[in-house]
Amino acid sequence: MALMKLTTFPNPILFKKTQPFESIGPKEKVLVQDMIETMYYERGVGLAANQVGLSKRLFVASADGVHGQELVFFNAEIIKKSGKLREPEGCLSVPETYEHVTRYKEVTLRGMNLKGEWETVEAKGLLARIFQHEIDHLDGKLFVHRLGWLKSRKTIKHLCNRYGHPPA
Ligand code: CO
Repeated sequence: MALMKLTTFPNPILFKKTQPFESIGPKEKVLVQDMIETMYYERGVGLAANQVGLSKRLFVASADGVHGQELVFFNAEIIKKSGKLREPEGCLSVPETYEHVTRYKEVTLRGMNLKGEWETVEAKGLLARIFQHEIDHLDGKLFVHRLGWLKSRKTIKHLCNRYGHPPA
């Protein structure tokens, strides 16, 4: 297993939609283990592939930090959503920034597991929030894009001043 290097704002890979997987094999299994190790090392509850430099549609998650029970989804989409909930959020790729984000309260996610089988998972609470945050990553969006127009603008401007500008 190996730790991977995090990509952070304003790395262009974070602003680009990721590409789906065509097959899942031994290479992907190693990648998933490395991503899980990196997620724990960085004290995250979720990690998308483009956060470790790979523009592919994959994320790992662990809402409760129980080792061995991480969730892994390839080519995932949110297929159902309901309710609204506003709670604080941060991101391993966005240093020192924590803001309240309105998300759906409950979501249903459909994605492929490590065996290449499609799975459907209903989530609420923190897991529902993680799913939405990670799917956003895979679509090239960060949580700072979800703060409402004025707050997003202000927060992104602050990040640009500090870390540089993302691609136009
Ligand atoms: Co994030």
